[in-house]
Amino acid sequence: MNLADKKVLITGSTMGIGHASARAMLAAGARVALHGRNIERVREAIAELGFPGQSVAVGGDVGDPEQCRQLVEDAVAQLGGLDFLVCNAGIGDLSYPEAVTEEHWDKVMNVNCRSGYLLTKHALPALRQSRGAVLLVASAAGICAGPTDNFAYAIAKAGMISLAQTLSVELAPSGIRVNALCPGFINTPLIEAENRATNGQIHRFVEQATLLHRIGTEDECASTVAYLATDEAAYFTGVAIINDGGLTVQRSWGGRN
Ligand code: NAI
Repeated sequence: MNLADKKVLITGSTMGIGHASARAMLAAGARVALHGRNIERVREAIAELGFPGQSVAVGGDVGDPEQCRQLVEDAVAQLGGLDFLVCNAGIGDLSYPEAVTEEHWDKVMNVNCRSGYLLTKHALPALRQSRGAVLLVASAAGICAGPTDNFAYAIAKAGMISLAQTLSVELAPSGIRVNALCPGFINTPLIEAENRATNGQIHRFVEQATLLHRIGTEDECASTVAYLATDEAAYFTGVAIINDGGLTVQRSWGGRN
């Protein structure tokens, strides 16, 4: 895989899928703006990865509109342009429909869906110049109804898929491609926290509900993210790419309660 000269911004890259994806793209030669809420933590993540000359750090809360603008402008300025925007930062707070507060709903929608729109909007001047691409990290939970404790999350991720489709139509005349990635269960700090909160229920559920009977690894997700940054992926636009070990192929994953 060759990403030499590609300039990439990936949000939420201090750990999990974002961190592994940054590593994969750096190893392929990309220059990458890593991002997290805490800029010191981002610098630590860059040191862990070991590609200091190819990496820059940006910070900000993607739930905040002004910080979305600022972090994109900061990344574009430091990289000197932008070829590939990956909107990956997200939260997985569990909640049941009747227990969802307005505050929880707004937070999940803003971080997991609105951010994709705002980050893309602010990246447009740079992406128009590069005729670049956007990847919105959605979820298998946005493809078909999942467990009810994923209520607001699933709705936000379905919105993220629709956002990718809508933006792909809007931005095709500018030569900008937009896709969504829909991971199933991937073994990251987010899923580990959910697994602990449900007394191991998630791992048991994944073994039973996926065709491959196992959870996915961060690297199995990162390789897809990195591929979508290559010129070889130039014919992908407007699609939701499902990377879920056969979780949703039968169009239902049932409940896990
Ligand atoms: P994670 O919790 O391991 O990492 C999330 C990253 O996003 C961290 O760097 C965190 O600091 C950052 N982040 C969270 N909220 C933020 C905010 N408001 N502002 C700025 N940064 C913020 O999560 P993981 O598992 O790596 O997930 C990455 C993406 O993949 C998320 O959008 C998640 O919804 C999605 N996803 C994950 C799946 C999984 O099984 N791990 C399955 C389907 C989708």
